[in-house]
Amino acid sequence: MDFKKLAQKYQTPLYIYDFDCISERFNSVKEAFRARKSLICYAVKANSNLSVLKHLISLGAGCDCVSAEEIKKALLAGAAKYKIIFSGVGKNDSEIEFALKENILMLNVESEAELKRVEKIAENLKITARISIRVNPDVDAKTHPYISTGLKKNKFGVDVDTAKKLYIYCKSSPFLEPVGIHCHIGSQILDIAPYRDATMVTADLLRNLRALEIDIKFFDVGGGLGIRYKDEVTIESYDFAQAVLANLSGTDVTIACELGRFLVGNSGYLLTKVLYEKYNGAKRFVIVDAAMNDLIRPSLYNAYHEIEAVDKNRDGDLADVVGPICESGDFLAKEVVLPPLENGDLLVVKSTGAYGFSMSSNYNSRLRAAEVAIENGKERLIRRREEFEDLVRLEREYLEGANEENR
Ligand code: LLP
Repeated sequence: MDFKKLAQKYQTPLYIYDFDCISERFNSVKEAFRARKSLICYAVKANSNLSVLKHLISLGAGCDCVSAEEIKKALLAGAAKYKIIFSGVGKNDSEIEFALKENILMLNVESEAELKRVEKIAENLKITARISIRVNPDVDAKTHPYISTGLKKNKFGVDVDTAKKLYIYCKSSPFLEPVGIHCHIGSQILDIAPYRDATMVTADLLRNLRALEIDIKFFDVGGGLGIRYKDEVTIESYDFAQAVLANLSGTDVTIACELGRFLVGNSGYLLTKVLYEKYNGAKRFVIVDAAMNDLIRPSLYNAYHEIEAVDKNRDGDLADVVGPICESGDFLAKEVVLPPLENGDLLVVKSTGAYGFSMSSNYNSRLRAAEVAIENGKERLIRRREEFEDLVRLEREYLEGANEENR
């Protein structure tokens, strides 16, 4: 990848996504589930750029959305309604109504209270809502506590007994049609055992429900497959599929999954320019033009992202790579080896395709970065760099109003 050319053309900070890498990842999952009916959904939250969505949709992906706006983005990018799933622990009434009116595949319901809201709203609309219940299997995904979701102490889903009760309740309601079972135990999972354990719980429930003549068509195993940021040993698509399928012999459900990071994480690069080097005592800082508003993962989770100097050798001294934001938590890497650097040199922060731009903000009134796609060796802009006008567009008119009132 010609990072120098890209920096010249689009300036920095700049997100770059390798679309061929995304295709490869998606196809590997599709292939792993080849023997079964499957719906490989993309968890839009990982990177919701419309062109990223369009690319995955063109490969056959469905979309796992967690807000009405994510559903709208998926539709705008060309997603088929029957391939859209609506997840999330706190959907509000207007979002539920929107999803039902759009006639998407199903809503993943996370509590009894939510199920009753969905029923009420469906009744008002005089339709039947297709739902699945998110089961919390009480399985430890052994990942960062902030992104572990399958334990009783987490806010997500309902335990398996409650789930069974809710399915039975659905059976008696003309406005609820249970079509799926859902489970998502966490993110950046590197160990296959929790997947096996969780699907054992949900497959058991599936068989119980079949015995009660509740016809479940979709078995949604969630997302969470981890990627390599440094030297992690990751789960291969094939092994993921085998772990899931091991518990499902004799059933003919369609397997659904909702992968985010696995599909897009390694495809992304955050390109940033060195502003200055400085030493505070013996401590070396490399100050760059990207910051925690562009990539918050290091600050928020102490996450590691490999950083490399473009067109330089790899030897050098230890340094913290920090942004211009007024917080000591504003760092992209700590204690990494970097060659001597000066103003204008480029650094590339790797594996930033997932939860990079999508978690970015305007903190410090910084303009969000541009995004570029590389496909078949050609690059194209997929989001322009924000401008000052974008920053003040929603506030400017009130400034004028306030001035008048104060007069
Ligand atoms: N399905 C559900 C219901 C989810 O909550 C999530 C992610 C996914 C699927 C996709 O998970 P993935 O395959 O990407 O691991 N901001 C954090 C990650 C938060 C994940 C939230 N839920 C990070 O930067 O590591």
